[in-house]
Amino acid sequence: MGEHVKKFLIVAAAAVIAILSAYASLRPAYLAEKERVASEAASKVARLEMGKQLYQQSCAACHGANLEGAENWQTPLEDGSLPPPPHDETGHTWHHGDQLLFDYTKLGGAAMLAQMGVQMKSGMPAFEGKLTDDEIWAILDYIKSTWPQRIRDLQAERTAFENENQ
Ligand code: HEC
Repeated sequence: MGEHVKKFLIVAAAAVIAILSAYASLRPAYLAEKERVASEAASKVARLEMGKQLYQQSCAACHGANLEGAENWQTPLEDGSLPPPPHDETGHTWHHGDQLLFDYTKLGGAAMLAQMGVQMKSGMPAFEGKLTDDEIWAILDYIKSTWPQRIRDLQAERTAFENENQ
């Protein structure tokens, strides 16, 4: 074998080894990343399913099984309180940022309205002590997941605005 051919073979072998070892070290990282993305997607689905079930148990009786709210929800009742509004995109839930929706659910309508300086009867109960914070967030995630992307974007802007201005 001539010197040149030998050199070439050594360089070629070194290149093959380099490529194989790069592949061997990248492959586990690639597989781990793929697994992470898949398990993240699965836990997102599980969380929405949990939120949906909790919504059906705790909210649907008033806000509707399909988030449709009460009929004539904009017309006050005889005692001055308002009927349960829809949580789908026809209501005004999405006009509020995340924290306000969370507080409203945790503290209830009367306490929230009082915080805003409004004395008004409210049919919205407080869920503090009945649902954990995480369960309330899961319900809100479920509600948001039913909105069209455009509405979700608008509500996300609202959340950002409220976070900056609180
Ligand atoms: C007993 C009936 C009842 C139940 C159960 C109920 N709500 Fe309400 N909710 C109302 C009423 C009535 C209002 C409207 C007006 C008010 O606050 O006085 C309301 C208002 C709200 C608002 C404010 C919406 C807005 O656009 O201003 C949010 C958020 C809300 N409810 C979330 C929930 C969630 C989440 C659940 C379940 C964990 C739930 N509610 C369960 C009756 C209920």
